Amino acid sequence: MPAAKTRILLTREEITQKVEELAGQVFKDYQHKTPVLICILKGAVVFLSDFMRYLQLPVQIDFMAVSSYGQSTTTTGVVRILKDLEMSIENRDVIIIEDIIDTGLTLSYLRENLLSRNPRSLKILALLDKPDRRKVKVEPDYCGFSIPDEFVVGYGLDFNEKYRNLPDLCILLEFGS
Ligand code: IMP
Ligand code: MG
Repeated sequence: MPAAKTRILLTREEITQKVEELAGQVFKDYQHKTPVLICILKGAVVFLSDFMRYLQLPVQIDFMAVSSYGQSTTTTGVVRILKDLEMSIENRDVIIIEDIIDTGLTLSYLRENLLSRNPRSLKILALLDKPDRRKVKVEPDYCGFSIPDEFVVGYGLDFNEKYRNLPDLCILLEFGS
């Protein structure tokens, strides 16, 4: 892939340390439970795969894909389910694993949708939060980093499906292609 103009916001080491810390918090809160980690595709896959290996609990994982973004860097406000869960979450302790909360539209929709399936509990774990951009009220129960209003890529996050494999979290400085 051609080199993109980026600036590192969080190094892979800083992220790793935070992910381990988050796993410690969740471990304390879910002793003797087997939570279902619901990874929101595609952005949260890198986070999930790191996080679950630090989490010293029996877990199950499942995936959901939703789209609120289309092909741009501003939210359209339309949330669609592109892929639904394979398992039932009734009476389960569910943790939504999300890469970033921006306007909050995706998570507020997802939270209502998943609550209607009667989980025993439902919490939100987000690696990143951009609180300045919030349009609807939704707060993560666990959050890695609060970041400024910049468009970031890497560590799973994309711009037009690119840059997900950058190991650090980077601010995208030019939106060429
Ligand atoms: P929300 O519905 O506006 O909260 O948007 C959440 C989704 O938008 C996230 O799951 C990301 O996929 C995407 N998103 C929001 N901000 C960024 C960003 O800075 N970089 C890449 N994707 C982003
Ligand atoms: Mg996403």
